[in-house]
Amino acid sequence: MPDRIPTFRYSRITGTGSMLPPRRVSNADLAAQLAERGLETSDEWIVERTGIRARRFADPSVCSSDLGVEAARHALQAAGRSAEDVDLIIVATSTPDMVFPSTATIVQRKLGVQGCPAFDLQAVCSGFVYGLSVADAMIRSGAASCALVIGAEVFSRILDFNDRTTCVLFGDGAGAVVLEASAEPGILATRLHADGQHMDILCTPGTVSGGQILGDPLLKMDGQAVFKLAVRVLDEVAREVLEAAGRTAADIDWLIPHQANIRIMQGTARKLKVPLDHVVVTVDEHGNTSAASIPLALDHAVRSGQIQRGHTLMLEGVGGGFTWGAVLLDF
Ligand code: ACO
Repeated sequence: MPDRIPTFRYSRITGTGSMLPPRRVSNADLAAQLAERGLETSDEWIVERTGIRARRFADPSVCSSDLGVEAARHALQAAGRSAEDVDLIIVATSTPDMVFPSTATIVQRKLGVQGCPAFDLQAVCSGFVYGLSVADAMIRSGAASCALVIGAEVFSRILDFNDRTTCVLFGDGAGAVVLEASAEPGILATRLHADGQHMDILCTPGTVSGGQILGDPLLKMDGQAVFKLAVRVLDEVAREVLEAAGRTAADIDWLIPHQANIRIMQGTARKLKVPLDHVVVTVDEHGNTSAASIPLALDHAVRSGQIQRGHTLMLEGVGGGFTWGAVLLDF
Protein backbone atom coordinates (compact mmCIF):
# COMPACT_ATOMS: atom_id res chain seq x y z
CA MET A 1 0.00 0.00 0.00
CA PRO A 2 2.68 2.63 0.90
CA ASP A 3 4.28 2.38 -2.58
CA ARG A 4 1.11 3.46 -4.37
CA ILE A 5 1.68 6.46 -6.63
CA PRO A 6 -0.58 9.26 -5.44
CA THR A 7 -2.93 10.66 -8.04
CA PHE A 8 -5.26 12.52 -5.70
CA ARG A 9 -5.45 15.67 -3.70
CA TYR A 10 -8.15 15.18 -1.11
CA SER A 11 -9.22 12.92 1.71
CA ARG A 12 -12.74 11.85 2.60
CA ILE A 13 -14.41 9.88 5.38
CA THR A 14 -15.70 6.60 3.93
CA GLY A 15 -16.82 4.90 7.15
CA THR A 16 -17.48 5.59 10.82
CA GLY A 17 -17.64 3.31 13.86
CA SER A 18 -17.74 3.42 17.62
CA MET A 19 -17.65 1.30 20.74
CA LEU A 20 -19.02 2.01 24.20
CA PRO A 21 -18.40 -0.24 27.19
CA PRO A 22 -21.67 -1.84 28.27
CA ARG A 23 -21.68 -0.57 31.89
CA ARG A 24 -23.92 2.53 31.97
CA VAL A 25 -23.51 4.62 35.11
CA SER A 26 -26.34 7.12 35.61
CA ASN A 27 -25.96 10.29 37.65
CA ALA A 28 -27.99 8.62 40.39
CA ASP A 29 -25.63 5.60 40.37
CA LEU A 30 -22.63 7.91 40.62
CA ALA A 31 -24.24 10.01 43.36
CA ALA A 32 -24.78 6.82 45.38
CA GLN A 33 -21.11 5.82 44.91
CA LEU A 34 -19.87 9.27 45.92
CA ALA A 35 -22.18 9.28 48.98
CA GLU A 36 -20.25 6.24 50.25
CA ARG A 37 -17.16 8.50 50.24
CA GLY A 38 -19.01 11.27 52.04
CA LEU A 39 -19.40 13.43 48.90
CA GLU A 40 -22.69 14.97 47.91
CA THR A 41 -23.90 15.38 44.33
CA SER A 42 -27.19 14.94 42.50
CA ASP A 43 -28.65 14.21 39.10
CA GLU A 44 -30.18 17.70 39.15
CA TRP A 45 -26.82 19.47 39.75
CA ILE A 46 -24.98 17.46 37.08
CA VAL A 47 -27.71 17.85 34.43
CA GLU A 48 -28.14 21.56 35.04
CA ARG A 49 -24.39 22.40 34.93
CA THR A 50 -23.27 19.96 32.22
CA GLY A 51 -26.18 18.25 30.40
CA ILE A 52 -24.75 14.86 31.38
CA ARG A 53 -27.22 12.17 32.48
CA ALA A 54 -25.03 9.07 32.25
CA ARG A 55 -21.63 7.83 31.13
CA ARG A 56 -20.10 4.42 30.38
CA PHE A 57 -17.29 3.00 32.49
CA ALA A 58 -15.13 0.15 31.17
CA ASP A 59 -14.40 -2.87 33.34
CA PRO A 60 -10.86 -2.90 34.81
CA SER A 61 -9.59 -5.46 32.26
CA VAL A 62 -10.62 -3.31 29.27
CA CYS A 63 -8.05 -0.94 27.75
CA SER A 64 -8.26 1.89 25.21
CA SER A 65 -7.00 -0.48 22.49
CA ASP A 66 -9.89 -2.90 23.18
CA LEU A 67 -12.46 -0.16 22.62
CA GLY A 68 -10.47 1.38 19.77
CA VAL A 69 -10.12 -1.84 17.80
CA GLU A 70 -13.88 -2.51 17.96
CA ALA A 71 -14.64 1.05 16.80
CA ALA A 72 -12.10 0.57 13.98
CA ARG A 73 -13.70 -2.73 12.90
CA HIS A 74 -17.12 -1.05 12.69
CA ALA A 75 -15.66 1.86 10.69
CA LEU A 76 -13.90 -0.53 8.28
CA GLN A 77 -17.12 -2.48 7.79
CA ALA A 78 -19.04 0.74 7.06
CA ALA A 79 -16.35 1.76 4.53
CA GLY A 80 -16.39 -1.67 2.86
CA ARG A 81 -12.69 -2.05 3.66
CA SER A 82 -10.66 -4.74 5.39
CA ALA A 83 -7.79 -4.19 7.83
CA GLU A 84 -5.34 -5.17 5.02
CA ASP A 85 -6.37 -2.03 3.11
CA VAL A 86 -5.23 0.27 5.93
CA ASP A 87 -1.88 2.02 5.40
CA LEU A 88 -1.91 4.40 8.39
CA ILE A 89 -3.22 4.08 11.96
CA ILE A 90 -3.48 7.07 14.28
CA VAL A 91 -4.87 6.66 17.79
CA ALA A 92 -5.69 9.83 19.71
CA THR A 93 -5.65 9.02 23.42
CA SER A 94 -4.59 10.39 26.80
CA THR A 95 -5.21 7.02 28.43
CA PRO A 96 -2.90 4.69 26.48
CA ASP A 97 -2.69 1.00 27.37
CA MET A 98 0.93 1.37 28.53
CA VAL A 99 3.89 3.76 28.53
CA PHE A 100 5.02 2.10 25.32
CA PRO A 101 4.49 0.71 22.73
CA SER A 102 1.80 3.01 21.42
CA THR A 103 -1.86 2.06 21.62
CA ALA A 104 -1.89 2.39 17.82
CA THR A 105 0.57 -0.49 17.40
CA ILE A 106 -1.52 -2.58 19.82
CA VAL A 107 -4.63 -1.82 17.74
CA GLN A 108 -2.65 -2.76 14.62
CA ARG A 109 -1.70 -6.09 16.18
CA LYS A 110 -5.31 -6.76 17.26
CA LEU A 111 -6.46 -6.02 13.70
CA GLY A 112 -4.01 -8.70 12.54
CA VAL A 113 -2.02 -6.52 10.13
CA GLN A 114 1.61 -5.41 9.93
CA GLY A 115 3.81 -2.89 8.22
CA CYS A 116 1.86 0.35 7.99
CA PRO A 117 2.85 3.30 10.20
CA ALA A 118 0.94 3.43 13.49
CA PHE A 119 1.32 6.06 16.20
CA ASP A 120 -0.48 7.72 19.09
CA LEU A 121 -1.36 11.37 19.10
CA GLN A 122 -1.61 13.22 22.40
CA ALA A 123 -3.73 16.37 22.25
CA VAL A 124 -6.21 15.37 24.99
CA CYS A 125 -9.80 16.30 24.01
CA SER A 126 -8.60 17.84 20.72
CA GLY A 127 -6.84 14.59 19.81
CA PHE A 128 -9.33 13.40 17.21
CA VAL A 129 -9.40 16.71 15.34
CA TYR A 130 -5.58 16.75 15.45
CA GLY A 131 -5.47 13.14 14.21
CA LEU A 132 -7.89 13.80 11.37
CA SER A 133 -5.85 16.82 10.33
CA VAL A 134 -2.56 14.86 10.33
CA ALA A 135 -4.12 11.97 8.39
CA ASP A 136 -5.58 14.43 5.86
CA ALA A 137 -2.15 15.99 5.34
CA MET A 138 -0.51 12.57 4.94
CA ILE A 139 -3.13 11.46 2.43
CA ARG A 140 -2.89 14.67 0.42
CA SER A 141 0.93 14.35 0.35
CA GLY A 142 0.69 10.79 -0.93
CA ALA A 143 2.18 9.24 2.24
CA ALA A 144 -1.03 7.28 2.87
CA SER A 145 -4.22 6.40 1.05
CA CYS A 146 -6.44 4.60 3.57
CA ALA A 147 -6.12 5.77 7.17
CA LEU A 148 -7.78 4.68 10.38
CA VAL A 149 -8.17 7.62 12.75
CA ILE A 150 -9.32 6.50 16.17
CA GLY A 151 -10.12 8.31 19.41
CA ALA A 152 -10.09 5.88 22.33
CA GLU A 153 -10.20 6.55 26.05
CA VAL A 154 -10.67 4.93 29.44
CA PHE A 155 -10.82 8.25 31.31
CA SER A 156 -12.36 6.54 34.34
CA ARG A 157 -8.78 5.33 35.12
CA ILE A 158 -7.50 8.86 35.76
CA LEU A 159 -10.52 10.30 37.59
CA ASP A 160 -10.29 11.33 41.23
CA PHE A 161 -13.47 9.92 42.78
CA ASN A 162 -12.80 12.11 45.81
CA ASP A 163 -13.22 15.23 43.64
CA ARG A 164 -16.89 15.73 42.80
CA THR A 165 -16.12 18.72 40.55
CA THR A 166 -14.37 16.50 37.98
CA CYS A 167 -15.34 12.83 38.41
CA VAL A 168 -18.94 13.43 37.32
CA LEU A 169 -17.89 14.82 33.93
CA PHE A 170 -16.06 12.03 32.10
CA GLY A 171 -16.68 8.62 30.56
CA ASP A 172 -15.05 5.84 28.51
CA GLY A 173 -15.47 4.92 24.83
CA ALA A 174 -13.99 4.97 21.36
CA GLY A 175 -14.86 6.23 17.90
CA ALA A 176 -13.13 5.79 14.57
CA VAL A 177 -13.23 6.83 10.95
CA VAL A 178 -11.73 5.44 7.76
CA LEU A 179 -10.25 8.35 5.82
CA GLU A 180 -9.42 7.62 2.18
CA ALA A 181 -7.81 9.36 -0.75
CA SER A 182 -10.38 10.92 -3.03
CA ALA A 183 -10.53 12.99 -6.19
CA GLU A 184 -13.20 15.13 -4.49
CA PRO A 185 -13.18 16.68 -0.99
CA GLY A 186 -13.87 15.41 1.67
CA ILE A 187 -12.01 17.48 4.12
CA LEU A 188 -12.23 21.12 3.05
CA ALA A 189 -9.97 22.76 5.63
CA THR A 190 -8.41 22.12 9.03
CA ARG A 191 -6.98 24.46 11.66
CA LEU A 192 -5.06 23.44 14.81
CA HIS A 193 -3.79 25.48 17.76
CA ALA A 194 -2.14 25.06 21.15
CA ASP A 195 -1.09 27.33 24.00
CA GLY A 196 1.03 25.69 26.69
CA GLN A 197 0.66 28.78 28.90
CA HIS A 198 -2.62 27.24 30.04
CA MET A 199 -1.29 23.75 30.79
CA ASP A 200 -2.18 23.99 34.49
CA ILE A 201 -5.94 24.57 34.13
CA LEU A 202 -6.53 21.01 32.90
CA CYS A 203 -3.92 18.32 33.47
CA THR A 204 -3.01 14.93 34.88
CA PRO A 205 0.46 15.82 36.06
CA GLY A 206 1.78 12.49 37.33
CA THR A 207 4.35 10.32 35.57
CA VAL A 208 6.22 7.05 36.05
CA SER A 209 9.83 7.29 37.21
CA GLY A 210 12.14 4.64 38.65
CA GLY A 211 9.22 2.25 39.10
CA GLN A 212 7.22 4.81 41.11
CA ILE A 213 4.42 7.21 40.27
CA LEU A 214 5.87 10.70 40.48
CA GLY A 215 3.35 13.51 41.04
CA ASP A 216 -0.42 13.22 41.01
CA PRO A 217 -1.74 10.71 38.45
CA LEU A 218 -5.34 11.95 38.66
CA LEU A 219 -7.12 14.61 36.59
CA LYS A 220 -7.09 18.22 37.85
CA MET A 221 -9.20 21.00 36.39
CA ASP A 222 -10.07 24.63 36.96
CA GLY A 223 -13.59 24.28 35.52
CA GLN A 224 -14.43 27.94 35.17
CA ALA A 225 -11.12 28.84 33.49
CA VAL A 226 -11.57 25.93 31.06
CA PHE A 227 -15.15 26.99 30.35
CA LYS A 228 -14.25 30.58 29.44
CA LEU A 229 -11.25 29.66 27.32
CA ALA A 230 -13.14 26.87 25.52
CA VAL A 231 -16.02 29.10 24.41
CA ARG A 232 -13.63 31.78 23.13
CA VAL A 233 -11.22 29.56 21.19
CA LEU A 234 -13.96 27.38 19.70
CA ASP A 235 -15.59 30.44 18.22
CA GLU A 236 -12.29 31.76 16.86
CA VAL A 237 -11.21 28.51 15.24
CA ALA A 238 -14.65 27.88 13.74
CA ARG A 239 -14.50 31.22 11.92
CA GLU A 240 -10.91 30.58 10.88
CA VAL A 241 -11.65 27.20 9.28
CA LEU A 242 -14.77 28.53 7.53
CA GLU A 243 -12.73 31.36 6.04
CA ALA A 244 -9.99 28.94 4.95
CA ALA A 245 -12.60 26.85 3.13
CA GLY A 246 -14.41 29.84 1.63
CA ARG A 247 -17.64 28.86 3.40
CA THR A 248 -19.92 30.50 5.95
CA ALA A 249 -21.65 29.23 9.08
CA ALA A 250 -24.87 29.05 7.04
CA ASP A 251 -23.26 26.20 5.05
CA ILE A 252 -22.92 23.99 8.16
CA ASP A 253 -25.48 21.19 8.21
CA TRP A 254 -24.17 19.68 11.45
CA LEU A 255 -21.90 21.10 14.14
CA ILE A 256 -20.12 18.35 16.07
CA PRO A 257 -18.30 20.01 18.95
CA HIS A 258 -16.26 18.17 21.54
CA GLN A 259 -18.85 16.76 23.94
CA ALA A 260 -17.60 18.32 27.19
CA ASN A 261 -20.53 20.28 28.47
CA ILE A 262 -23.86 21.19 26.88
CA ARG A 263 -23.46 24.83 27.94
CA ILE A 264 -20.11 25.16 26.10
CA MET A 265 -21.66 23.50 23.03
CA GLN A 266 -24.73 25.74 23.05
CA GLY A 267 -22.59 28.83 23.62
CA THR A 268 -20.44 27.92 20.61
CA ALA A 269 -23.47 27.29 18.38
CA ARG A 270 -25.16 30.54 19.42
CA LYS A 271 -22.04 32.60 18.66
CA LEU A 272 -21.82 30.98 15.22
CA LYS A 273 -25.60 31.31 14.73
CA VAL A 274 -25.93 27.58 14.05
CA PRO A 275 -29.42 26.46 15.18
CA LEU A 276 -29.25 24.25 18.27
CA ASP A 277 -31.10 21.46 16.45
CA HIS A 278 -28.15 21.28 14.05
CA VAL A 279 -25.73 20.45 16.86
CA VAL A 280 -24.98 16.75 17.42
CA VAL A 281 -25.37 16.05 21.15
CA THR A 282 -24.25 12.83 22.83
CA VAL A 283 -22.79 14.32 26.01
CA ASP A 284 -26.06 13.49 27.79
CA GLU A 285 -25.44 9.73 27.46
CA HIS A 286 -21.65 9.54 26.98
CA GLY A 287 -20.29 12.28 29.25
CA ASN A 288 -16.96 13.71 28.16
CA THR A 289 -14.96 10.91 26.54
CA SER A 290 -12.05 13.21 25.61
CA ALA A 291 -10.45 12.22 22.28
CA ALA A 292 -13.28 9.74 21.64
CA SER A 293 -16.11 12.23 21.98
CA ILE A 294 -16.21 13.65 18.44
CA PRO A 295 -15.93 10.35 16.51
CA LEU A 296 -18.46 8.78 18.91
CA ALA A 297 -20.89 11.64 18.26
CA LEU A 298 -20.20 11.49 14.52
CA ASP A 299 -20.87 7.75 14.33
CA HIS A 300 -23.99 8.09 16.46
CA ALA A 301 -25.39 10.79 14.14
CA VAL A 302 -24.47 8.85 10.98
CA ARG A 303 -26.06 5.62 12.20
CA SER A 304 -29.18 7.38 13.48
CA GLY A 305 -29.64 8.92 10.01
CA GLN A 306 -29.17 12.54 11.15
CA ILE A 307 -26.02 12.96 9.07
CA GLN A 308 -26.39 12.06 5.39
CA ARG A 309 -23.86 11.87 2.55
CA GLY A 310 -23.29 15.34 1.13
CA HIS A 311 -23.87 17.16 4.43
CA THR A 312 -21.28 19.74 5.50
CA LEU A 313 -19.89 19.06 8.97
CA MET A 314 -17.88 21.21 11.36
CA LEU A 315 -15.90 19.16 13.90
CA GLU A 316 -14.43 21.16 16.79
CA GLY A 317 -12.10 19.97 19.53
CA VAL A 318 -10.77 21.68 22.64
CA GLY A 319 -8.87 20.32 25.60
CA GLY A 320 -5.86 20.09 27.86
CA GLY A 321 -2.62 21.64 26.76
CA PHE A 322 -4.44 23.91 26.03
CA THR A 323 -5.21 22.59 22.53
CA TRP A 324 -7.99 23.33 20.07
CA GLY A 325 -8.83 22.87 16.42
CA ALA A 326 -11.53 22.47 13.79
CA VAL A 327 -12.15 20.44 10.66
CA LEU A 328 -14.69 21.41 8.01
CA LEU A 329 -15.73 18.62 5.65
CA ASP A 330 -18.28 17.48 3.15
CA PHE A 331 -19.42 14.06 4.34
N1 ACO B 1 -22.25 18.16 42.72
C1 ACO B 1 -22.76 19.11 43.52
N2 ACO B 1 -22.14 20.28 43.75
C2 ACO B 1 -20.97 20.49 43.14
C3 ACO B 1 -20.38 19.53 42.29
C4 ACO B 1 -21.07 18.32 42.09
N3 ACO B 1 -20.60 17.34 41.29
N4 ACO B 1 -19.21 20.01 41.83
C5 ACO B 1 -19.07 21.23 42.36
N5 ACO B 1 -20.11 21.51 43.15
C6 ACO B 1 -20.37 22.74 43.93
C7 ACO B 1 -19.11 23.52 44.23
O1 ACO B 1 -18.46 22.97 45.36
C8 ACO B 1 -19.65 24.88 44.46
O2 ACO B 1 -20.19 24.95 45.76
P1 ACO B 1 -20.00 26.29 46.63
O3 ACO B 1 -20.72 27.35 45.84
O4 ACO B 1 -20.65 25.92 47.90
O5 ACO B 1 -18.53 26.50 46.70
C9 ACO B 1 -20.80 24.96 43.48
O6 ACO B 1 -21.14 23.60 43.14
C10 ACO B 1 -20.46 25.71 42.22
O7 ACO B 1 -19.21 25.25 41.76
P2 ACO B 1 -18.55 25.82 40.46
O8 ACO B 1 -17.24 25.16 40.23
O9 ACO B 1 -18.60 27.31 40.55
O10 ACO B 1 -19.61 25.35 39.38
P3 ACO B 1 -19.71 25.74 37.89
O11 ACO B 1 -21.00 26.36 37.63
O12 ACO B 1 -18.48 26.44 37.40
O13 ACO B 1 -19.74 24.31 37.21
C11 ACO B 1 -18.33 22.88 35.95
C12 ACO B 1 -18.63 23.44 37.32
C13 ACO B 1 -19.51 22.03 35.51
C14 ACO B 1 -17.09 21.99 36.02
C15 ACO B 1 -18.11 24.04 34.98
O14 ACO B 1 -17.13 24.91 35.46
C16 ACO B 1 -17.72 23.58 33.63
O15 ACO B 1 -18.50 22.99 32.93
N6 ACO B 1 -16.50 23.87 33.21
C17 ACO B 1 -16.02 23.45 31.92
C18 ACO B 1 -15.15 22.35 32.18
C19 ACO B 1 -15.37 21.17 31.30
O16 ACO B 1 -16.35 20.98 30.63
N7 ACO B 1 -14.37 20.37 31.32
C20 ACO B 1 -14.36 19.18 30.59
C21 ACO B 1 -12.96 18.89 30.31
S1 ACO B 1 -12.26 20.12 29.40
C22 ACO B 1 -12.61 19.86 27.94
O17 ACO B 1 -12.93 18.77 27.60
C23 ACO B 1 -12.50 21.01 27.14
